[in-house]
Amino acid sequence: MTQSPVNVTVTGAAGQIGYALLFRIASGALLGPDTPVKLRLLEIPQAVKAAEGTAMELDDCAFPLLQGIDIFDDAKAAFDGVNVALLVGARPRTKGMERADLLEANGGIFKPQGEAINAGAASDVKVLVVGNPANTNALIAQAHAPDVPAERFTAMTRLDHNRAIAQLAKKTGAATTDITNIAIWGNHSPTMFPDLYNAKVKGQNAFEAVGSDLDWYRDEYQPTVGKRGAAIIEARGASSAASAASAAIDHIRTWVDGTPEGDWTSMAIPSDGSYGVPEGIISSFPVTVKDQQYSIVQGLEIPAFAQEKLDATVAELVGERDAVKELGLI
Ligand code: NAD
Ligand code: LMR
Repeated sequence: MTQSPVNVTVTGAAGQIGYALLFRIASGALLGPDTPVKLRLLEIPQAVKAAEGTAMELDDCAFPLLQGIDIFDDAKAAFDGVNVALLVGARPRTKGMERADLLEANGGIFKPQGEAINAGAASDVKVLVVGNPANTNALIAQAHAPDVPAERFTAMTRLDHNRAIAQLAKKTGAATTDITNIAIWGNHSPTMFPDLYNAKVKGQNAFEAVGSDLDWYRDEYQPTVGKRGAAIIEARGASSAASAASAAIDHIRTWVDGTPEGDWTSMAIPSDGSYGVPEGIISSFPVTVKDQQYSIVQGLEIPAFAQEKLDATVAELVGERDAVKELGLI
């Protein structure tokens, strides 16, 4: 192991996703078995003690790749020198909270974090926002980091992507590894659109593999994938944690290692206007990754049903963007 350690900052480190994520990062799942890591954990002051407890457990694993753990309650310090920033901590919606209140509360988190990334991040920084509303939180952070290339700010739809694969595998009886070219379009919310028209099951068009059954697609598949987060909350009494952590690992690993030949993945990224998605909003697209650069897959078929769903999820993102603009957050 000759490489110098990569600084990975995790916000919300004492939360449930943090607990599922940190051990996998330290074990090498995030950056591979040859890359040492230094963890920089950011928490609010009240949760620093809990983060210290997790750090004790990380010590106790004696991970060969883990070269240090620092804990902060100050964003500027936590993001100093960061190479990979995992923005997990966010303000959840509580009873009686209006959408504007939620966006404003999260603006109070993601604005200073964007500023801190701008001030101190390493030149190769990659940012993944997990904390909800993830796409718009990423937009807020990005707006406050003018010196960092905009494309380094991404939000997570990889969990939705993985859910789309799992549900399609169940329906067709295929293995998850038989499914390729799945894509999630739009927002990480129930409006997201999982695209079967361009996906494949054992090389066969996925929509055809489900018997071209539009009723099933519209009434079962899309809502099951789109509302899976709510279904997990209903069943577990808490939002998805291990699966969200696993998807965050997948997102960064793919960004670093690239997509397999002939396949693509889903990442929420600043739109360049492709497929009529307004430039600048952070929307999920099918992307390929090579040499740590992602590109939106061009020329895909968007039939009428897909276009209707894409328009709806993009309209939701535009509404969120307009709301945070009105609140002076971007
Ligand atoms: P959690 O409540 O268990 O943990 C959140 C942690 O964030 C807490 O420890 C809290 O103290 C911390 N925090 C709050 N404000 C902070 C700040 N300003 N700086 C640093 N830390 C801060 O929540 P969780 O289950 O770990 O989920 C975290 C977020 O991820 C939520 O917003 C959740 O909705 C979201 N989520 C997203 C996806 C996705 O696919 N994008 C999936 C699952 C969950
Ligand atoms: C998920 O998709 O599991 C989460 O985003 C749900 C949530 O609201 O935390």
